[in-house]
Amino acid sequence: MQEYIVVEQSLELQGEAQLVGAKNAVLVIMSSLVLTAGKSVLTNVPASNDVLQMISLLESLGAHVIFNQETHTLSVDTTNVDRWQVNPEIMKKMRASVLVMGPLLARFGRAELAIPGGCLLGARPIDYHLKNFEKMGVIIRMVDDELHASCSRLHAQRLILEYPSVGATENLMMAATLTPGITSIVNAALEPEVYDLIEVLQKMGAKINIVSSATIMIEGVTNLSPVNHAIIPDRLEAGTLLIATAITGGSIALPQARADHLDLVLYKLEEMGHSVTIGENGRGVWFKATKTPRAVSFKTTPYPGFPTDLQAPMMAAQCLAQGTSIIEETVFENRLLHVAQLQKIGANITIKDNKAIIAGVDSFKGVPVAATDIRASCALVLAGLVAQGTTVMSNTHHWKRGYEALEKKLNALGAHIKFVEE
Ligand code: EPZ
Repeated sequence: MQEYIVVEQSLELQGEAQLVGAKNAVLVIMSSLVLTAGKSVLTNVPASNDVLQMISLLESLGAHVIFNQETHTLSVDTTNVDRWQVNPEIMKKMRASVLVMGPLLARFGRAELAIPGGCLLGARPIDYHLKNFEKMGVIIRMVDDELHASCSRLHAQRLILEYPSVGATENLMMAATLTPGITSIVNAALEPEVYDLIEVLQKMGAKINIVSSATIMIEGVTNLSPVNHAIIPDRLEAGTLLIATAITGGSIALPQARADHLDLVLYKLEEMGHSVTIGENGRGVWFKATKTPRAVSFKTTPYPGFPTDLQAPMMAAQCLAQGTSIIEETVFENRLLHVAQLQKIGANITIKDNKAIIAGVDSFKGVPVAATDIRASCALVLAGLVAQGTTVMSNTHHWKRGYEALEKKLNALGAHIKFVEE
């Protein structure tokens, strides 16, 4: 039996939606709990498959985890974490598993893990992580396709990232919180999810400062305490809901959205002719789509630029706008796999290097398509909302990895999306 997501042509999406916690914050924050020995409580935790995978990973290390999916509350007791071997099956399914490496090295001086899997976005190496751990004194060997890392003690260093890698910033910062002395991470990533992690680490007792342009300074402490923390609302879920509303010509209220996490997305939606209202001190977004959207161009860059994780859904919106859009993907070397799927539905896109040139068309036609990563699955579902007829998407695991029942939220706004087994 294979599972599909079936999308019927839907009316304008109208209404209000609540947001869950950010996947790319909660996964790294769950990993950071390994730095402490005690019971922490996280709220606003999405019940997505990646979170369930991370729970399994923490339990395999010895943590005791209780997840109340109704209240989105996760309780993690890391008192008995006594293992540093990460389950290879979990490593292969989810790249975020590599984010336990820093906490394990800081707590045990040991970490054994397979090379991470994850979305098909290109090579996705972890060389920035490994090179800088070695600079901190970690010995890393390959043993039967697994990384075996060990160190007698970690050394504070000035670490230079040749690219502001989110994962490398997070991994190295977590290790540095328990490393005696001052560690600097130069050219660090400063996405909202990295800030949420910094807030959690500071609540644990870590000494972290952001100095000059994108340098994070960490002064090591001797131990860190358990925390209570509410995960930030997911800017990527918010962006997806806004773009779905834009494509269907409707209107939506997102009272929990952090507008200050969505600057470039809101800027580009307004450039298309849609109207955006932002609530008091940047909390809440009220959106009304125009019926005659103009095509806009953009390139993805590290935060606060246009987020690579919304490139695919925003591309779907350009396909049906008036004019020509040029979208350049600069973060990942191979994140245009959804173009071929959008072309099947009727999009007029040509690829030149890492650029997609899109000429707006009047309509899409629902056909079978295949999701190629979490965010591509959004682009295809959103395209299906306005395609004539029925759009059937395979590889539904991508959709389930990234969201907690996003289809239910879209259906509550007027979409017609269902899971079908055949
Ligand atoms: C995080 O991935 C996110 N995942 C990604 O979201 C997001 O797209 C990405 O950051 C960029 O914002 C999580 O937080 C779990 P990077 P990460 O290290 O940390 C290259 C989603 O859909 N690179 O910032 O893996 C890399 O290949 C996912 O939710 C190296 O070359 O991203 C890429 O081209 C997809 N060597 C670029 O840097 C390294 O050691 C940015 O990667 C590390 C990265």
